[in-house]
Amino acid sequence: MSPQISPSILAADFARLADEAEAVRGADWLHVDVMDNHFVPNLTLGLPVVESLCKATDIPVDCHLMIEDPDRWAPQYAEAGAGSVTFHVEAAAAPVRLARELRALGARASMALKPATPIEPYEDLLPELDMLLIMTVEPGFGGQSFLDIMLPKIRRTRELINRHGLQLWLQIDGGVSAETIERCADAGADVFVAGSAVYGAADPAEAVRRLREQAAAATEGSPWVHRH
Ligand code: DX5
Ligand code: ZN
Repeated sequence: MSPQISPSILAADFARLADEAEAVRGADWLHVDVMDNHFVPNLTLGLPVVESLCKATDIPVDCHLMIEDPDRWAPQYAEAGAGSVTFHVEAAAAPVRLARELRALGARASMALKPATPIEPYEDLLPELDMLLIMTVEPGFGGQSFLDIMLPKIRRTRELINRHGLQLWLQIDGGVSAETIERCADAGADVFVAGSAVYGAADPAEAVRRLREQAAAATEGSPWVHRH
């Protein structure tokens, strides 16, 4: 799959969300960080805002739930119109049941791993998922430095995906910028969340295009890339 960019509205102006979505026209997804001040030490927005945002933009919404008890809350984000719903495996009581429920509601089912959570115990779950999110910062805040120590995990995950012949997307989130995107793409990531690198740019839509081009150039010739 060719690389996709998902700008994070955590770095946007929350009082002007519809305009901020318009500012990244051409982006593949709009990344919405839901934080409950329990799973992470920060509080952002919840279901009513996501419902309104889904109606206000044509860009599919990529909901990243950094919340406790996603088994209870995540399906409502699929019902609200999110095209992709990501729950954290550290918080889910029954990730397989939850992934199936999200798919049944018509959303892409995605599971996230914090930096200290290994991929290996979840190998058998991968066919239940449409996307896996590997955090490249500790979740909770935008504008943090990319954790280079996550590159081996990205590489190992890409190998697992290939070994099983899966169509699973591999997303990374945290510290993605013009300086870091190439090594992430080279390691095997194909969906890139970027907050400050997009909304901190003078022209956010142009920043999205440039990041996508950089990622595509870095994966040129990689055997795992299936172009369409
Ligand atoms: C952090 C969030 C990220 C955040 C990324 O917990 O999940 O989506 O917005 O921001 P940047 O791209 O600035 O690191
Ligand atoms: Zn996020």
